[in-house]
Formats: sequence, structure tokens, C-alpha cells
Amino acid sequence: MERQKILIVDDSEFNRKLLVGVLQDEYDTIEAANGREALEIINKNTAMISLVLLDILMPEMTGLELLKTLNDTGISSLIPVILITAADSEEEYGLNLGAVDFITKPFDPNIVRTRVENHMKIKSTKDMLEELVSFNMDRSEYVWEATIEMLANVIEFRSFENFKNYDKIKKITNILINKLLEMNVYSDEINDIGVNFILTAAPLCDIGKIFIPEYILFKNGELTPSEFEIVKKHTINGKKLITNCLRAVSEKYVKCCEDVCLNHHERWDGTGYPNGLSGNEIPVAARIVALTDVFDALVTGRPYRKAFRKAEAVKIIGESSGKDFDPSIVSAFIHVADEICKVYQ
Ligand SMILES: [Fe+2]
Repeated sequence: MERQKILIVDDSEFNRKLLVGVLQDEYDTIEAANGREALEIINKNTAMISLVLLDILMPEMTGLELLKTLNDTGISSLIPVILITAADSEEEYGLNLGAVDFITKPFDPNIVRTRVENHMKIKSTKDMLEELVSFNMDRSEYVWEATIEMLANVIEFRSFENFKNYDKIKKITNILINKLLEMNVYSDEINDIGVNFILTAAPLCDIGKIFIPEYILFKNGELTPSEFEIVKKHTINGKKLITNCLRAVSEKYVKCCEDVCLNHHERWDGTGYPNGLSGNEIPVAARIVALTDVFDALVTGRPYRKAFRKAEAVKIIGESSGKDFDPSIVSAFIHVADEICKVYQ
């Protein structure tokens, strides 16, 4: 089997040799001494490079300038970039520009090996999913639906949230949407998007979690601000993955999935992420899924906490009306709360 290739970008030859020494047993390496040289190599070999290790301070073109170019051209969604940073302040800026992770100097060989290995695994899974989806693109609706379900399950299994059940999320979202239609709340918008599209998009809302490194996903204890920045990026990365995976599918469906993945952590009062949208600025499909996703999370146990009782979960959602959630959608939810709770019995 062909070995995966890593591009090491650093103006210090000493650092490059050090990284080559750490990685050469497992991977092939290519070296570049600055951003401009690296960009030429990436443009010529996009499909061949599996990961970039990128220093920040370099002559000609800095690491952050290169990162911005890769982000603007969409290449950073194809090739993960790990930043090599000397200062904490650069981490968040780099993560916002599309880096998937960072390694702090002076680097520990074991940390370099583990982080690289994690991101190689993530990239392989993502490539496999993309291949699987494009293979099934022209097949029957049944196969297509099964592929989406498998995609959702892979994500949830990896994040140990495998109880976030594909069927349950779909069922409770369906109950809520039916009530909204019956009450004539957002009926035009929902019908315009397509009920089935929202139902299929709902379980994919956390698909971007595939990019979260395992040391963060499985961390016992509170996340650092930089780690939480990486978690928050599952919204942006989910949208990118949907765009890449589903580009040949109905434009309307892709738009619905993108809206849900990107915006399901936005809050009605504007305090959510990634863009701090508020009220009707948040697409309606994302406002609906935001509620069903949180309800599912509350009533389902997690490795780090027990499940809430269903009545408690309903109360929490009710109290979050106008803060986390759209008051009209909460109102419809309260009407069908009993029916939704039965799904979890
Ligand atoms: Fe999420």
C-alpha cells in the first residue's frame, strides 16, 4: 500500500529534519522552506498530500498567509493543516483560518506522532465516506437513504454518542414539524425546504465532529478555550463536508443540510456559534433541529453525565424559549412533548 505523504513547511532546516526523523518510519515526507514554496508543491500535488505541518513565522510567505490562501481556495477542506505555534495567541487565529489542530514548540515527538496519526485517521475516514457517497450517488433512493444513515452512525459511534439515534432524531423532528404545520407556524418556509429534506438533514447535524481529534473528544474534564474552539468548528467543517460529499445531489437538499450543519448551535438570542446569528437570521430548519438535537442530548446519557428525566428535559427546553430557541417552535414542542417523550420509552 502506498504510504501517505506529509508536507513539512518550516524555514528552519533543523526543525524540518527533526520532524522528518519523527515521522519517516510511518510516512513519506516532503519539505518546503516557506509558504510560497509550499503553495507551489500543494498546487501541483493536491491529491497526493495527506497532511501539512505548518510553521507560522517564515520569510516570503508566512504560515498564516499560506493558511488563508488554502482556506480561500477550499484546499484546507481537502488537506488538513496542523500549525506549529510558539504562542497561544496564534492558535485561535490559525484555527479560525481553517487549521485543524496545533502543536506547540518546542515539540514533543510523541505528541507530534499522536496528533498526526489522529488526523490521518480522520482524513482516511472522510475520504472513504466521500467515495462511498459518490459510489451510491446514482443508485436507488433506498440505497441513498441507507448511505446517509451509515454516515450519521459512523459520526455518532466515533464520538461515543451512538445513542443519538438516527431514527429517534428523525421521529421527534417529524412530530415537531407536523405540529408546526398544523399550527400554521413557518408552514410556507418548511414546505418550501421540503419536510423530508429537513428530516434527513437532522441526524447529520454533527457530521463535522469527524474532524475533532480524539484527545479532545474523549477528554475527561473541562476543555481549554483552544480545545473548545476546535469543537465549535464542527459546524463549519460539517457544512464543508456536506458540500464536498453531496455536491451531485439535489441543490435544495444540500442547502438544507448545509444550513442545519452550520447553524444548529446558533441561539435565538444571538449568543450561539459559529456566527452569532439571532432570531430569523437563523435558517428555520436549523432552528427546528437545534431544539430536537438538544432534547435528544438531554434525555440520552453520555459517558460523562447521566441522562435527564424526560419531564426535566421538557422543562429545560421550555425555560430556554426566547434564549436558546425560537419561542414559536418551543410552543409547538410543548404541545407535542408527551408524544416526543414516548419515542424515548
Ligand atoms: Fe453539534
